[in-house]
Amino acid sequence: MEFKHIPVLLDEVIKGLAISENGIYVDCTIGGGGHSRHILSNLTDGKLFGFDRDEDAINVCNERFKDNKNLILIHSNFKDAPTILKERGIEEIDGFLIDLGVSSYQIDNGERGFSFLHNGRLDMRMDKNSSLDAYKVVNTYSKEKLIDILYKYGEESNAKRIVENIDARRRIKPIETTFELKDIIEASFPKKVVYGKGGVSKKTFQALRIEVNGELTDLDKVVKELTLMLKKGGRGVVITFHSLEDRIIKNIFKELATDCICPPRTPVCICGHKAQVKIIDKKPITASEKELQENPRSSSAKLRIVERI
Ligand SMILES: C[S@@+](CC[C@H](N)C(=O)[O-])C[C@H]1O[C@@H](n2cnc3c(N)ncnc32)[C@H](O)[C@@H]1O
Repeated sequence: MEFKHIPVLLDEVIKGLAISENGIYVDCTIGGGGHSRHILSNLTDGKLFGFDRDEDAINVCNERFKDNKNLILIHSNFKDAPTILKERGIEEIDGFLIDLGVSSYQIDNGERGFSFLHNGRLDMRMDKNSSLDAYKVVNTYSKEKLIDILYKYGEESNAKRIVENIDARRRIKPIETTFELKDIIEASFPKKVVYGKGGVSKKTFQALRIEVNGELTDLDKVVKELTLMLKKGGRGVVITFHSLEDRIIKNIFKELATDCICPPRTPVCICGHKAQVKIIDKKPITASEKELQENPRSSSAKLRIVERI
């Protein structure tokens, strides 16, 4: 299957990175290289490190950029990027981009089991070498743990009913495919909700994907580490696609941009914290009308940018 993915907020990302031609940049989530292509076109002697935990993305970028000497591709979770960069002698960077979530290629490829719109084995692993997949989560987690995940990562208010139905089914036989799961979720809602609103599976699928890939685990920690690797004037650029991710990015950038982080009502500062960055736009940047029409996937995208001071 062809690797198709339209980069979101492309102009805003490139402008936000304020690329210097000899700089060192990190694309933490290179996917099909949509953003990276434009970063690379702004470099002369600079370097771009492209990370992705999905081997398909690394392979497609290897092919797409095979003659490009400025790009170094690394098949890894970007949570290890600071360590990997330091092992390669890179202590400081000029900019990083994180474009969170999954690519259109991953969603549209039924075999990867990410989407309730395409039938496939319940998988949802970004990294095919990982031992935890959606099949395991759905069929082996306790009811309590599943309910917790649906509430926490999907903000699904109907979690209890959905999990009761999952449990009733898996006692008879394991739930194997995305369509089987979608049917169980839909049966957990009144018919008029299923057909009236559509997409009642979205929250549950999002929650399972986040659990399978540990998407929110230590996200703040790595964003902080990468931000502190920025040279003075270097930019950190992050795109999120749902409120849980955005809240984490907003809070960590706010903390890094604040002088004192003592608890409210502490009479005198005892933390000694000093702001390390300035926030470029107070409000997150969202897609223009034109982009929304051309790429509906951009509708939930939020872009936040910081600059190291
Ligand atoms: C939204 S896509 C990026 C698309 C890319 N910016 C482009 O324009 O083609 C997200 C990509 O990040 C990867 N990804 C998500 N979380 C990751 C992580 N923690 N470490 C490495 N890659 C990750 C996914 O496998 C996917 O390929």
